[in-house]
Amino acid sequence: MDAGDATIRAYQERMEAYLSAQREPSPAVLAWHDRFVGSLGQGSTVLELGSGPGSDADRLEARGLQVLRSDATPAFAERLRGLGHAVLDLDVRTDPIPSGLDGVFANAVLLHLTRDELQMALLRLHGAIRPGGVLACSFKEGDGEEWHDRKLGLPRRFTYWREAPLRDALTTAGFDAEPIGHVRGDSDDWLQVVARA
Ligand SMILES: C[S@@+](CC[C@H](N)C(=O)[O-])C[C@H]1O[C@@H](n2cnc3c(N)ncnc32)[C@H](O)[C@@H]1O
Repeated sequence: MDAGDATIRAYQERMEAYLSAQREPSPAVLAWHDRFVGSLGQGSTVLELGSGPGSDADRLEARGLQVLRSDATPAFAERLRGLGHAVLDLDVRTDPIPSGLDGVFANAVLLHLTRDELQMALLRLHGAIRPGGVLACSFKEGDGEEWHDRKLGLPRRFTYWREAPLRDALTTAGFDAEPIGHVRGDSDDWLQVVARA
């Protein structure tokens, strides 16, 4: 099975474990929300990729954005529909992305793509975001790739990124990235991107 598909299957089979492990967002994540919201006007329409539990979407909506939730894992999408939200079944590697978006938000989602898949996804996202719109996405900071089963008990594939190649990939896709945030976490370090199309 393709590595990305196997990762989605791990979420599908262990959604409850992911939900149970969810924690309150760190001050760094809330500050990143601020940067994203501040770079867009009130009422802007944004697509969230890999919404998962949906807590970022709830917070961004409370800050005045209109958020279209999406996920490639059917269990997450169904759960959010059950909570009354409109949700797209959207695998960012392969599915059409709605066009004319003011922004796209993807917290800890694009880290499941290979480097080539990320470059292709960034090109497609650039095409979907209106000129001047904003992409916010986050990645684990580091080298290489890793499969691990921490948290879910089933293996997921992660691609680690450093700032310079990530900035190159964004520029190649046509994005103009603001300074990339470096955030120290308990178990991982993170790169936080805010980039304009
Ligand atoms: C680490 S979780 C993050 C969930 C949520 N964004 C959060 O911060 O809590 C990764 C999410 O990406 C989704 N995902 C994995 N591969 C994907 C893909 N190819 N396209 C879209 N979503 C994907 C998973 O279903 C899961 O919801």
